Amino acid sequence: MIILKSEKEIEQMHEAGKLLASCHKEISKIVEPGITTIEIDAFVEKYLKKHGATPEQKGYQGYQYATCASVNDEICHGFPRKTPLKDGDIVTIDMVVNLNGALADSAWTYAVGNISDKAEHLLKVTKNSLYKGIEKAYAGNRLGDIGYAIQHYAESEGFSVVREFVGHGIGPTIHEEPHVPHYGRPGTGLILKTGMVITIEPMINEGVWASRMDSNGWTARTADGKLSAQYEHTIAITKDGPLILTQQ
Ligand code: MF3
Ligand code: CO
Repeated sequence: MIILKSEKEIEQMHEAGKLLASCHKEISKIVEPGITTIEIDAFVEKYLKKHGATPEQKGYQGYQYATCASVNDEICHGFPRKTPLKDGDIVTIDMVVNLNGALADSAWTYAVGNISDKAEHLLKVTKNSLYKGIEKAYAGNRLGDIGYAIQHYAESEGFSVVREFVGHGIGPTIHEEPHVPHYGRPGTGLILKTGMVITIEPMINEGVWASRMDSNGWTARTADGKLSAQYEHTIAITKDGPLILTQQ
């Protein structure tokens, strides 16, 4: 069942989204060679608490951290850890903020120090692909229009789109219907309606799209060990078009 949100609810989610965006801005200032993802996780938890919010991912289906921190070939749901980040790494920090019961979800991939040209290209294309998807998030369009826009662009740049993990509706709980694939055919799939709030969160791989699950049961990484990047926004479908609730 798809739960449409009222203007009031969207406003409250927007407040959560603004806080999340400001947290990402702070993270961008501290990511550098030598910092650990467990330190970033602690920073996020403290930052949210200071602003009256909580990390919704902590405790979600047994997940133990405020953030997911996915390094290099990790696609998503990486565990924060004590290993220092190295010059040339890329790291995706993903989090869901709960502010007075309203949620927002956003992931961002950061460059650690100086990264290779191919990593730079992957980050640029992945971020652009998110915005290509958002451009299609209008009432009356279909989910396949979003997926196609992302896939067509990412593949035309020589990259691949992860299939096993998709965007989702979000409301009082993190994962609601519908599923929002980052691949598809135009003119197919569910018709978007005003009041839907969804995430668009393309995970784009340098090599093959296939993934392997780590033995921890959470972390997915690329099957070929090549890089994966991700950018995610929470989007409200409004009568005036897509509203990015987590805009930085
Ligand atoms: N933020 C993630 C998403 O985009 C949710 C991760 S759930 C967790 O769907 F438990 F792994 F944190
Ligand atoms: Co997320």
